[in-house]
Amino acid sequence: MRKMRVGTGAPVSTMAGADRYPEHNQETAMSQQAQPHEASEPETPHLDFAGTTPYEDYVRADVLTHLQHTLSDDPGEMVFLVTTQVMELWFTVIVHEWETAAKALREDRVPVAIDALKRSVRELEALNASWRPLGQLTPAQFNSYRSALGEGSGFQSAMYRRMEFLLGEKAASMLVPHRGAPRVHAELEKALYEPSLYDEVLRLLARHGSVIPSSVLERDVSRRYEPSPEVEQAWTAVYSGDPDSEVARLGEALTDVAELVWRWRNDHLVATRRAMGAKAGTGGSAGVAWLEKRAQKNVFPELWTARSYV
Ligand code: HEM
Repeated sequence: MRKMRVGTGAPVSTMAGADRYPEHNQETAMSQQAQPHEASEPETPHLDFAGTTPYEDYVRADVLTHLQHTLSDDPGEMVFLVTTQVMELWFTVIVHEWETAAKALREDRVPVAIDALKRSVRELEALNASWRPLGQLTPAQFNSYRSALGEGSGFQSAMYRRMEFLLGEKAASMLVPHRGAPRVHAELEKALYEPSLYDEVLRLLARHGSVIPSSVLERDVSRRYEPSPEVEQAWTAVYSGDPDSEVARLGEALTDVAELVWRWRNDHLVATRRAMGAKAGTGGSAGVAWLEKRAQKNVFPELWTARSYV
C-alpha cells in the first residue's frame, strides 16, 4: 500500500519537484532573479499521481461522498441524511473505543481503558454537537420529506444498538430487524453474547477487592443489566476512598460517558418533539412518548445512585 502524504510536511525530492512543477520552478527562478536575497517559495503539494491519490486510497472520499441518495426533491432532506450518516460514523468510532476499553479491562490494563473512554468522551461531544443542523426542524420542514422515509427509522440502526449492548442494554429482540443483513446480524449477535463494557468493569472491580455478588459476575450477559445493591455499595466505597485511585478515575470516565449518552437521548427527544409533536414514529412506535421513556434511563445505574451515600 502506498503511504499517505497529505499535509505531512515531508520533504519532497528535488527531481520530483522539478519534473512536476515546471511553471512553478520558472516563477521561482524569476523571483529569485529579481530579489536574489529573498528566500525561495516553499514547495507546493504534488499534483500528479499514477492512479488515484494516496488521500483517496486512505479516506475513500469518493465512496463516502457518493452515498447521499436522497429520496425526495426537498432541498432540506440532504442535511437530514448526512447528519444521520455522520452520526453513524461517530457511533462506529465510539463502539471501537468501548470495545478497546472492554478488552483492556479484561487484561487488567486500566490506563489503556481510561484513555479509550476519555477519547470516547470527546467523540460523544462531537456526536452530540451534530444535532445542531436538525435541532430546530419545524413540522412543515420535516413533513417535506418525511413520507419518503417510509418505515425507515433510526431505531433500525445496528451501530446504535451495538453501543447500547456495550452499555449493558442488551435485548435479543433487537436482532430481529437485521435478519435480512447477514453481516450486520452476525456482528450484533456476537455483541449480544459478549460481556458488555460494564460487565468488564464490574469483573475488574471484583479482582481489585470489591464485593460483587456472583449473581452479577456470572449473569447471563445476553440479558439487560439490572442494578444491584451490592454494586451500588462497591461504588460507594470507591467514591469514599482515594479519588486518584485507578478505579475512582475509571468510575468518573464512565460517568462522563453515561452523562453524554443521556444528553444524546435527550437532544434526540427534543429534536423529535420539535419536528413532529406527538405523531407516531416512522418506525412504528408512539414517537415522543416512547422516546421519553427511553431517555429517562441512566446507563451504569449504580454510578449514579451510589452518589447519595458518599
Ligand atoms: C429530527 C429528526 C428526527 C426525528 C423526528 C426522529 C424520530 C424518531 C422516533 C419517533 C423514534 C422512535 C422509533 C420510531 O417509531 O421511529 C426514533 C428512534 C431513533 N432515532 Fe430518531 N429521529 C430523528 C433524527 C435521528 C437521527 C439524525 C438519528 C441518528 C442516527 C436518529 C437515531 C435514532 C435512534 C438510534 C433511534 C432508536 C432509539 C432507541 O432505541 O432508544 N434519529 N427517532
